[in-house]
Amino acid sequence: MSKKLELSFLESKDGSHTLLRHDLNETYHSHNGAIQESLWVFIDRGLKYLKENGYETIKVLEIGFGTGLNAILAYEFAQKNNIKIEYVSLEPFPVPLEIAEKLNYTDFLEEESKEIFGQIHRLSWEEKHEVSSYFSIQKIENTLENFKNNSDFQSEITGEEEFDCIFYDAFAPSKQAEVWQLSNLEKTFNMTKEKGILVTYCAQGQFKRDLKTAGWSIETLDGAPPKREMVRAMKSVTSSQ
Ligand SMILES: C[S@@+](CC[C@H](N)C(=O)[O-])C[C@H]1O[C@@H](n2cnc3c(N)ncnc32)[C@H](O)[C@@H]1O
Repeated sequence: MSKKLELSFLESKDGSHTLLRHDLNETYHSHNGAIQESLWVFIDRGLKYLKENGYETIKVLEIGFGTGLNAILAYEFAQKNNIKIEYVSLEPFPVPLEIAEKLNYTDFLEEESKEIFGQIHRLSWEEKHEVSSYFSIQKIENTLENFKNNSDFQSEITGEEEFDCIFYDAFAPSKQAEVWQLSNLEKTFNMTKEKGILVTYCAQGQFKRDLKTAGWSIETLDGAPPKREMVRAMKSVTSSQ
């Protein structure tokens, strides 16, 4: 997809960068701390939660690769915890490499992960890459709406229920309502294994109602400070919710 993105750098409150997308007037992360929120929502309430529930292998689907911040933090989690992560990430509008390489995330990473951040950005799209014995990544240049509807991907991805964890990290519903539409929530539900989860920073009322309609059982958790709430949803076909 060829869309010329107009982006500028901002420093969030924990010192880590985020990007401002001018056409939407929206940032890729919270102003209160990009790394702080990513760790809180996706790593701790997503990956760590699954690890505590006995998972040793986790297959993640991320909605919105963006700056690659969630991806590199998931890589660090895999390495530190000896958990095998297969990371699939959708992104219709990749951030140009020259911008990604100027993000200051490596300042916050373990020494051995610093190289990996740039490497993940430089990896080719569509193919699966083994980055380490614990972490593989497949970046797919597509929207969630079109993912798997396109025959190009059908041959590579066959099983219906394949993911353990959905990182739902689209821009806010007020900016990109189409990404939060019910059919997308149903689609992620159908692609998730029984007892798999979806985590997101968003706790908007209509979104929570749509998640339930799509079949998800939802939990509202404390959000990354100062946000009051976030959502973790579970695919529990036996639940009454
Ligand atoms: C909030 S940012 C993601 C931040 C990212 N996870 C990170 O760690 O930097 C939202 C991302 O979703 C992408 N996006 C926009 N429309 C989308 C769609 N229909 N399906 C999937 N991703 C989409 C945007 O281009 C953007 O990169």
